[in-house]
Amino acid sequence: MCGIVAYVGEKNPLPIVLDGLQRLEYRGYDSAGVFISNRNEKQTTKVVGKVAALRKALSQKVVINATMGMGHTRWATHGEPAYQNAHPHVSNSGNLVLIHNGIIENYAILKKELILRGYTFESETDSEVLVNWIEEIQKTEKLSLAKATQVALNQVIGAFGIVLYDIKNPDKLIVARLGSPIAIGLDKDGYFVGSDATPFLEHTREVVYLEDNEMAILQPSSPLEVLHIQNGKKLDPEIQQLKWNLENIQKDGFEHFMLKEIHEQPAAIRDTLRGRLLNEEGKIQISSFNEHQQKFLNAGRIIIVACGTSWHAGLVGEYLIESFARIPVEVEYASEFRYREPILYSDDIVIPISQSGETADTLAAIKLAKQAGAFIYGVCNVVGSSISRETNSGMYTHAGPEIGVASTKAFTTQIAVLSLIALKLAEIKETLPQHVLRNYLNELDNIPEQLEQLIAQKKIVGKIAQQIYQSTNCLYLGRGYNFPVALEGALKLKEISYIHAEGYPAAEMKHGPIALIDEDMPVIVIATRKGHYEKIVSNVQEIKSRKGIIIAIVTQGDVSVKEMADYCIEIPESSACFTPFFATLPLQFLSYYIAVLRGCNVDQPRNLAKSVTVE
Ligand code: G6P
Repeated sequence: MCGIVAYVGEKNPLPIVLDGLQRLEYRGYDSAGVFISNRNEKQTTKVVGKVAALRKALSQKVVINATMGMGHTRWATHGEPAYQNAHPHVSNSGNLVLIHNGIIENYAILKKELILRGYTFESETDSEVLVNWIEEIQKTEKLSLAKATQVALNQVIGAFGIVLYDIKNPDKLIVARLGSPIAIGLDKDGYFVGSDATPFLEHTREVVYLEDNEMAILQPSSPLEVLHIQNGKKLDPEIQQLKWNLENIQKDGFEHFMLKEIHEQPAAIRDTLRGRLLNEEGKIQISSFNEHQQKFLNAGRIIIVACGTSWHAGLVGEYLIESFARIPVEVEYASEFRYREPILYSDDIVIPISQSGETADTLAAIKLAKQAGAFIYGVCNVVGSSISRETNSGMYTHAGPEIGVASTKAFTTQIAVLSLIALKLAEIKETLPQHVLRNYLNELDNIPEQLEQLIAQKKIVGKIAQQIYQSTNCLYLGRGYNFPVALEGALKLKEISYIHAEGYPAAEMKHGPIALIDEDMPVIVIATRKGHYEKIVSNVQEIKSRKGIIIAIVTQGDVSVKEMADYCIEIPESSACFTPFFATLPLQFLSYYIAVLRGCNVDQPRNLAKSVTVE
């Protein structure tokens, strides 16, 4: 899972490639490299580390005037993060240069074969095997590069998004995808390539997203040529218009993307609800529902599949849909679902949830469910992503680009979409009394504004962070709708501050975690008034008697919990079903402030990547 970017055309490719790589660092950042070339010269620069280190290395050398450039930021799969494993990789003849995102599963067999034929390898990567395999086919079968690439890609097993360059044919790039995304930007001067469209947002609005098993030949003087990898047939590329702009992916004066994205939540949720929540008319309008209304009315069951934070949003979705629409819901980790031979029926609706739309396990779960005849209704943020194209229908969250590796606005906008789905289902199935439905619509409509007010209290959270940032463990407890919030709060802390944290249903505490509580253990309890308040008050008492440090998230005006807690954060009064919006926000701030105090790299935590395109 890596970031790839390339440019061929009239513009200077180096700044395009370097700025593009910086934007793609969310895909991995253990090593980086660029290759630039003009008709006479070529230059490769690689570093172990981030794109900033690559820029520094480039500033220390004389850089050629290039007409083509490609760059790669790596998240290691085959071979440790090391100079020789960094991309680009060059074939034995020195002619072919490749950057690759994905995994070639049969690389060991191919490598053995190539070694028998006299090839040598500098790296441990599967990518170096691929570039040499293409070269070998080109040589032995006397094929054009495009044809040889097509033949080779039909022989590899695994996933790839590649950019390939032949120094003997310097005005051309070949790109291809299977399982790893490739976006191609088009303008009058040339072609841009990226793992997503962010590297070329300021240059063009026109983009073509390659589908699986498609390859393209990019020559600035010629129209875009797209071919099917399996049968070589020419395809008509669909040119789409980009909606995101550069401002969306910059920090806007915030110290970190995560902080910016936490602050963006009210606006992001407004965008999610816009045109869908028609509060004055008292209804929900979801265009994709109209077409498939019967499918939803007939649904015997809904299965939500997702990973990470999106899985937590799925749990909130389960509670919402079952409560509002009385349809049974199961929430599955995509990685488990895809391998455990699940039973699926044709009246099942599968809802995959994914911010990036590229998570390999979620994508595989969708394919499995599709084969079994289920209807796939996706919830996705990135427009044109693999998941959004694999589903039968669905809704975008419209959260805008999320760059910080720890997911924030993606989560709350996912909950907003799931709230809309649950309410729409209730509307069409008539499972909620009209006045209750209207109240919920009203509440949902007010959430962005209330969140704005809640953000203003972040200083209180900052002070609490100072008290507990040196802890080695933390426990997060919540009941009902707040149980998934406890899981999400714990995940945020683990991800960016490296403190061990566990989320638990508050009542389950007695069955194990209570043994961990002592005067050094911060316990974050979500104890809002609506939603099992008395029960959670007893849980808080149990923590208190074991001397745990109690940090409580309470409803404004709370008395009982406040008396027992060491620290309190007040959130607005809301129906239990909407507390996740409010309870999540302070927990995001808490993990953010703790990570900053611990000197951690908030936006790029160690070992993690924003988009996990390997299983
Ligand atoms: C990675 C990210 C998480 C994210 C998960 C699922 O682990 O670091 O933040 O929740 O993938 O990603 P998706 O894009 O499918 O929501």
